Amino acid sequence: MSVSAIIPWVVGNWKMNPVQADACALVRSMKELLEIAPIAEAQCHLGVAPISIALTQIQAQLSTANRAVYTVAQDVSRIPGTGAYTGEVSAELLADSNIGYVLVGHSERRELFADTVEILKAKIKNALNAGLTVIYCVGESLEQREAGQAEAVVLQQICDIAAVVEAEQWKRIVIAYEPIWAIGTGKTASPQDAQAMHAQIRQGLSQITGYGETIAILYGGSVKPENAVELATCPDINGALVGGASLNAESFLQIAQAFANTQ
Ligand code: PGA
Repeated sequence: MSVSAIIPWVVGNWKMNPVQADACALVRSMKELLEIAPIAEAQCHLGVAPISIALTQIQAQLSTANRAVYTVAQDVSRIPGTGAYTGEVSAELLADSNIGYVLVGHSERRELFADTVEILKAKIKNALNAGLTVIYCVGESLEQREAGQAEAVVLQQICDIAAVVEAEQWKRIVIAYEPIWAIGTGKTASPQDAQAMHAQIRQGLSQITGYGETIAILYGGSVKPENAVELATCPDINGALVGGASLNAESFLQIAQAFANTQ
């Protein structure tokens, strides 16, 4: 299999948005737009990550779309199973609700909620053991980029999790490269810089796991319809993790279409 055989992923990270009525309207618009302009599953996988209390409701609403749109949890507990852990949702409980995907390692979780490397490893281990697919986010800060450390930081973030991912589990890992300085700022890495980092990540994945050619590497950070086409043409960018622009059905699906068109 070569990199070009990877089906792109476009995933909307809704973060702590929106209110219920708007979430329902957003899904309704997505379904209507997909009827008018279908995007084949074989050309692009689609996912949305709503707030945890909306996961099953959005999943039910999406079940009548004309194609699969996966529901993705934004987080998972570092504690497996069930028990006296107030406020937590384990990987097993996500799987029990047929939620098959989870974001782990988003910079907002790392920075604002103290998700340390040890916590991220526990979350990934639990998620994989429960059968979930993990979208693992990596990315450098502006200071790290300016100090010339971007690649080293990102490769270290990949190495951080290698010990908890068993060989056959890498097929349930998707990487999302999100330079922190590009998230929600309107600044995007240039397609050249993004491609260079993605190529490094792929090389690193090949060395660490042997599966570099089959793992999808998404780009995230102010992806919008205006920059999606150029990002989509980069050979090592296999999709996008979209924040702000995913709260608008038209923008989100235009981004998905840009990646689908490369197939
Ligand atoms: P953004 O967010 O598209 O709003 O920059 C991306 C993300 O944080 O996943």
